Amino acid sequence: MSEILKSQVIDDIEAAEELQLRPQWLSEYIGQADLKYNLNVFIKAARKRSESLDHTLLYGPPGLGKTTLAYIIANEMDGEIKTVNGPTIERPGDLAAILSTLDPGDILFIDEIHRLPRVVEEVLYSAMEDFNLAIVINREGHAHTLNVDLPPFTLVGATTRNGDISAPLRARFGISEKINYYTEDEIFHIVQRTSLVYETPIHEDAAKEIAKRSRGTPRIANRLFRRVRDFATVANEEEITLKSALKALTALKVDELGLDDIDKRYLTTIIERFHGGPVGLEAIASSIGEEVTNIEDVLEPYLLQIGMINRTPRGRVATSKAYSHLNKSQQNTLF
Ligand code: ADE
Repeated sequence: MSEILKSQVIDDIEAAEELQLRPQWLSEYIGQADLKYNLNVFIKAARKRSESLDHTLLYGPPGLGKTTLAYIIANEMDGEIKTVNGPTIERPGDLAAILSTLDPGDILFIDEIHRLPRVVEEVLYSAMEDFNLAIVINREGHAHTLNVDLPPFTLVGATTRNGDISAPLRARFGISEKINYYTEDEIFHIVQRTSLVYETPIHEDAAKEIAKRSRGTPRIANRLFRRVRDFATVANEEEITLKSALKALTALKVDELGLDDIDKRYLTTIIERFHGGPVGLEAIASSIGEEVTNIEDVLEPYLLQIGMINRTPRGRVATSKAYSHLNKSQQNTLF
C-alpha cells in the first residue's frame, strides 16, 4: 500500500474512532459555555415555533468540534444530517443533487465552506434565503432557468478561515459562532469522558498531563489518549499511570506545552535563520518544507494563542517566550 493510501486509512480509522467519542447532545458537550448557551436558546426557540433552525456558521481552528456540533444540532432539531466538503461540490448541479435529497428540517453540513467554488456559492444564496434553487441549464444552445422549491432546511457551515467567507455568504447566516481553544480543565474533563467511553481507567495525574499537552484541542487530546493507552497496555496497566503517559508523550516528542517537532522547527527557523523576524509566511514555509495553509490554519493559531509569536504587518516575530522556551539567547540574534 502506498504511503498516501496508508495515511488515508489511518485518517479514516481515526475519524471512525472520533465518531464513537463524539457527544450526541448539547448537554454532554464539554466546554464552549457561551456558544452552548446561545445554541441552546436558538434550538429551543426554533423547536417551539416548529421552524427550522436559522443557518449557522461555525468558525475556529481545526479539531475543536465544529463537526460534532453540526451533528448535535441535527440531533437536537430531530433532523437528518447530510455532510459534504466545500471543495468537492464542483458545479451547481452537484449542489442541486444534494439539496434535492433534503426533507423539511434536515441539516446540510458543509465543511470547509470557504473553499466552495464561486459558481456554487452563488446558487447557494437563493437556496439559503428563499429555499429556492435557480439553476441555469444550457440545452441545444438555449439557456433555461430551472426553479425548484426546497424544503426548509438548515445549512451549517464550518470554516477554519472566517476571513475567507465572502460578505454575501456571511450575510445569509442568521447564527455565527466562534469556537475557541478549550481550557486545560475542560480538556481534562474530555479526557476523563474518553476514558469512560473506552472503558479504560486513567489516573487523574495522567489525564492532567494529557490535558496540559493537547493544545486546547479535543481531537489532539483523544489522539494522545489512544497513544498513551497503547503504552499502558504494553506495560500491563489496569489504570493508565502518569509514568506511561510521560513515556508516551516523550516518545511522541510532544513537549510540556504541547509543541511538537514541526512547531519547534517553525520557531527555531524564525529565531535562527531570520534573526527572530519579522519574516514572511512564505519564507518560513519554504524553509521548513510545510504548506502555507497548514502553517496558517494549524500551527500559528495555537502559537499566537500561547504568545510564542506575534503577527505584524511586516511578518512573523518570535516573542521572548519563544526564545526562553527553546533555550535561545535573544541577544545573539539582534545582529
Ligand atoms: N469529545 C470531543 N470534543 C468533546 C467535547 N467538547 N465535549 C465532550 N466530548 C468531546
